[in-house]
Amino acid sequence: MHPGRVPVMAGNWKMHKGIHDTGGFVRELAAQLKERGPIATQVIVAPVFTSLSVAQQAAWGSPIRVAAQNCHWEAAGAFTGEVAAAMLQEIGIGHVILGHSERRQHFGETDATVAGRTQAALAAGLVPIVCVGEVLAERQAGATEAVLARQLGGALGGLSAGQVAGLIIAYEPVWAIGTGQVATSAQAQAAHAFIRHWLDGRFGPGTAAATRILYGGSAKPDNVAELLDCPDVDGCLIGGASLREESFMAMVDAAEKRAGKNSG
Ligand code: PGA
Repeated sequence: MHPGRVPVMAGNWKMHKGIHDTGGFVRELAAQLKERGPIATQVIVAPVFTSLSVAQQAAWGSPIRVAAQNCHWEAAGAFTGEVAAAMLQEIGIGHVILGHSERRQHFGETDATVAGRTQAALAAGLVPIVCVGEVLAERQAGATEAVLARQLGGALGGLSAGQVAGLIIAYEPVWAIGTGQVATSAQAQAAHAFIRHWLDGRFGPGTAAATRILYGGSAKPDNVAELLDCPDVDGCLIGGASLREESFMAMVDAAEKRAGKNSG
């Protein structure tokens, strides 16, 4: 973590938790955060679409922010099963996860569709959390950086430096997602440093220094401190370990501890 960037701990709940579980979780998390007092870390949860409003209500008055897991590139139209960015903004959603590898693998998401969704999210005033990451075969072939450069160029190529500085990138090596096989801190730092270097080359040093880059892929309470010690890791996008209040809160506490260390 770097003292110049606000850390983010975001829970990606994928297709888990209906309204009952979401309301209970967010109320409990809000109560625990209240006990902690003011926090430096941005805490985000990303429930399924049907649980967004309940999460918003439960998060009211707390530092918790609610994210959606996708949005469409058009404002309206014949797109069965999709939700427009402005519709999310209308119910108070501030962030949206885009280009997650599960969307790329199972739902035909491409760099071009991620770009369209990202532009629409920004136009609606949402903060996109744009996911990139290589599959195992790509890593083994030494193609990690080429894949990251292609995905970043595809998703962010049409944006301004100012827009990119305001969004969040999540580096999620696909081989680490849901597998229990976390990237080593050296692997995470190397990929994050590459992404920052790429941002510098394309958008300049100010943008590279400002853009938050999260790590995702089997991040857990027992490995999070090591990941957060990497200078270019600004937080985590957490799947499995964000589904239980106890482990998610432990990870938020770890980020707070690091933030305190940085400012002190
Ligand atoms: P995981 O998922 O933490 O369960 O590996 C991360 C993600 O897919 O965002």
